[in-house]
Amino acid sequence: MKKFNYYQPPTLEAAYGLMERFQGEACYVAGGTDVIVRVKQRAVAPEALVSLRGIDGLKGIQVNGGLALGSMTLLRDMERAPVLLQQYHALGQAVGVLANPQIRNVATVGGNLCNGAPSADCAPPLLVMEAVVRLEGPGGTREVPILDFFTGPGENSMENAEVMTAIRLPEYAPGTGSAFVKEGRVQQDIAITNAAALVVMEGRTCRKCRLSVGAVAPIPVRLTHIEALVEGKEMDPELLEEVARLTQEAVRPITDVRSTEAYRRQISGVLVQRALRAAVADARKEKAPTGPVQVQVPIDKAFTDGPRNIPVTDPESGQKKEIHFTLNGYAVSVEVEPHQMLLHLIRDQLGLKGTKEGCSQGECGACTVLVDGMNVDSCLYPAFEAAGKSVTTVEGLLGEGNRLDPLQESFVAHGGVQCGFCTPGMIMSAKALLNENPHPTEADIRKGISGNLCRCTGYVQIVESIQEAAKRK
Ligand SMILES: Cc1cc2nc3c(=O)[nH]c(=O)nc-3n(C[C@H](O)[C@H](O)[C@H](O)COP(=O)(O)OP(=O)(O)OC[C@H]3O[C@@H](n4cnc5c(N)ncnc54)[C@H](O)[C@@H]3O)c2cc1C
Ligand code: FES
Ligand code: FES
Repeated sequence: MKKFNYYQPPTLEAAYGLMERFQGEACYVAGGTDVIVRVKQRAVAPEALVSLRGIDGLKGIQVNGGLALGSMTLLRDMERAPVLLQQYHALGQAVGVLANPQIRNVATVGGNLCNGAPSADCAPPLLVMEAVVRLEGPGGTREVPILDFFTGPGENSMENAEVMTAIRLPEYAPGTGSAFVKEGRVQQDIAITNAAALVVMEGRTCRKCRLSVGAVAPIPVRLTHIEALVEGKEMDPELLEEVARLTQEAVRPITDVRSTEAYRRQISGVLVQRALRAAVADARKEKAPTGPVQVQVPIDKAFTDGPRNIPVTDPESGQKKEIHFTLNGYAVSVEVEPHQMLLHLIRDQLGLKGTKEGCSQGECGACTVLVDGMNVDSCLYPAFEAAGKSVTTVEGLLGEGNRLDPLQESFVAHGGVQCGFCTPGMIMSAKALLNENPHPTEADIRKGISGNLCRCTGYVQIVESIQEAAKRK
């Protein structure tokens, strides 16, 4: 991996200044789950990463007429927001199956869109919901319909130094339903194909229809000619068959490591048909009302147009520096390099070898630690971002007199450990799960550890170990 400087500007203006200073050799980083992987794979080699995490007002979910999402809103917060689960259903479904808990705990909705992947799971729901994205930059602020945002694989209509600050969705009309479906190697994986539908139903007649499909063309697409065919009609099996056939004709998939062109074409029709059927079913459900103003997640500072405070960024702040944080309950001050990830800080500099390195790209979960109680992949977590936070590694679970944590005891007692390489990461994900949900179902447990791979146990004993530990809580 090429070394880079890492900047944490406190304001948008400071961020633009850094981007202009590096003249195309810097890029923004939100959760880093796309961009840091690309740096590690040497697909990009920026001189500097400019973090958006420290900028106020970019995070939050606000219901006021429509819905406003801060671009830096974590997928984990969206996954838990009742308004997405009940009303903006397709989007709630999409974030619930996007990657795995460790990724969702740091990844953002803005990052998912700005990355410009044709397979981005937030894209089809936001396309059918006719979202508008807000872009702010040195040249001012503009609002762009999401339909015009994507321009090619990995490309979008943002200009140099612009930041996506918010995503706005229109109010949900009565009789509206939406749904998202996805086909992947496993459900919480990059999509082979994904699709979303939104309908407004009046009795059995579809008054409005919006359809979108992803990973079958250079950009996620809206199927406007098929929408026009559905509108004004009753939803019957022949119409649904026609929707599937026309989708298969319309898409332009490619063959890659995830799928063949032929399979993608076939499945795209099936998925659009399924999404449409599920959206109609969703339209028939009672929806809990949401008040005129409802803040689902605390917003740092509402999406205001007011003037921003502009402190001058320390030009040296992207270089090696001392950070202070809490590690397993102890205050730590340590000098770190800007390109250093938390994993190497913990293992190589601080000597705690319990946390393992497997893939180093967010795939295996061997490096899982808790940051402020949330399980994250430390191989993708910039060490600079740990400043001021509380980090817990597997060593931090030991109680008085080095007594094992009940979860660790349960893994030993129920055969949840074989070679043991995945075990520290697995236990940290289980810990995060039980802290939030002390009585999980088997499905909750499997979802909670879906970001942790084990090559030995077949997962049965791991799930049993977590179930038994939960009983002892
Ligand atoms: C193991 C793994 C599994 C994954 N599975 C899925 C999956 O199932 N579905 C899916 O859709 N994705 C998946 N991803 C991809 C990734 O996690 C998502 O796209 C995620 O939402 C990216 O968000 P981020 O905040 O981490 O973006 P980052 O990596 O920080 O940024 C992505 C890009 O957007 C730019 N950017 C970010 N925010 C802004 C902003 N506000 N304004 C301007 N530019 C910005 C950055 O410069 C960068 O180019 C997966 C990734 C991994 C590692
Ligand atoms: S996810 Fe970090 S080492 Fe595999
Ligand atoms: S016990 Fe060997 S990888 Fe899980």
